Amino acid sequence: MKFHSLRGMQDIFQDDSKRWRALRSILQTVLDQYGIGEVQNPILENLNLFVRTVGDASDIVNKELYSFEDRNGEHIALRPEGTAGFIRSVIEKKIEHESQKAFYVGPMFRYERPQKGRFRQFHQLGVEYIGFPEGDADIEIISIISDLLEGLKISKKAVININHLGTNDVKQEYCRALKEFLLDYKDSLSEIDQKRLDSNPLRILDSKDESAKDILALSDLPQYQDFLANQHLDLLDSLIASFGSKNAIKINHKLVRGLDYYTGLVFEVVSNELGAQDSFIGGGRYDNLISELGGRPQSAIGFAVGLDRVLNLFEPVYSYKKKVIFINLTGSDRHHAYNIASKIREASKNIIVESILTDASLKSQLRKANKLGGDFALIIGDGEMTNKKFIWKDLNESSQEFVTLEEIIGKIHQL
Ligand code: HAM
Repeated sequence: MKFHSLRGMQDIFQDDSKRWRALRSILQTVLDQYGIGEVQNPILENLNLFVRTVGDASDIVNKELYSFEDRNGEHIALRPEGTAGFIRSVIEKKIEHESQKAFYVGPMFRYERPQKGRFRQFHQLGVEYIGFPEGDADIEIISIISDLLEGLKISKKAVININHLGTNDVKQEYCRALKEFLLDYKDSLSEIDQKRLDSNPLRILDSKDESAKDILALSDLPQYQDFLANQHLDLLDSLIASFGSKNAIKINHKLVRGLDYYTGLVFEVVSNELGAQDSFIGGGRYDNLISELGGRPQSAIGFAVGLDRVLNLFEPVYSYKKKVIFINLTGSDRHHAYNIASKIREASKNIIVESILTDASLKSQLRKANKLGGDFALIIGDGEMTNKKFIWKDLNESSQEFVTLEEIIGKIHQL
């Protein structure tokens, strides 16, 4: 029987991994500049953590959680996102009253219908700020996003959509008004949107259904901005003023996000180069979540970058290291020759010394050396070991010479 990877799960091989590393390195450089430290949380959490945070009416909890009962009968879920686990860990460590600027990177799991840009195992880099009330922190969070886009050289491909959900009371009040309005059109809504009308009316603002879109375009639809306090509208304006010259940044009062814990600023970064799954960064403020999970009340804001999606947007620039292919033709005492390779690696971290690790013929090893993209080949047979002079072959020029180890090290330092 042949095994296949599960639907929506990817194996990431060498060249692709190189892309991932380049991406991670650019993002890391920006986060370092803001003094944000890394946190690593487990992939498995208690199922109820997500029910309580992401929300039992959300799609993520309703139909996308990977969950199981462990041998002890505990209900466990694979994390669908990183915020809940991070907040759980901060409360557990009793450090929620201290301010925190943290990031995490890792796989997340959602049982969604796989398509381009949508996987069942995907990867996020998340940033969470705890202990910073609305104001400066909201500006810094958008500033990080702006710098990430610039670092990746994709600012021109991206639009930052922002909205404000107000306080919890405002959110509830708007929800009620929206529901009351939509009830008159209930029969025209799709089955899913009719269910949402009871469980999570705000999500209808996000509906992809054409009849919902028509209803949402009606001029007497309650508008979120009419429910917001001036200070909240001012925050949106100040973000446009601060970041509008470098980025396409727009207020979208229909932006509500699919996770329940948000109040205050919310945002999503989209690109029309990504197709249907166009959102590659999402986040917002969640000032009530820590106390709802039993911690001391503390403000919080954060976002997550969908790395699988960004990967398709940016063009990595790789720093090139010269490659020496090590060809060992010695007979019995082969490890002595490999010591030479180790000495060269020790002499410079700026080159790659790759051994072919076979006793195939010189001809076939040289063919392989070219296939591996080698710049030079270092060839060592028994005679070379005795004379302490080795063959240094320039694979691009097809020239070669006999050289001592010291001479090789001298050459390598000049590369
Ligand atoms: P989210 O919007 O659910 O937010 O996910 C963030 C990003 O993860 C999305 O913009 C998208 O790029 C990526 N993503 C989500 N689902 C998939 C999928 N099935 N396949 C590929 N990529 C996907 C959160 O998860 C929040 N925890 C963000 C946050 C942090 N809010 C505050 N702090």
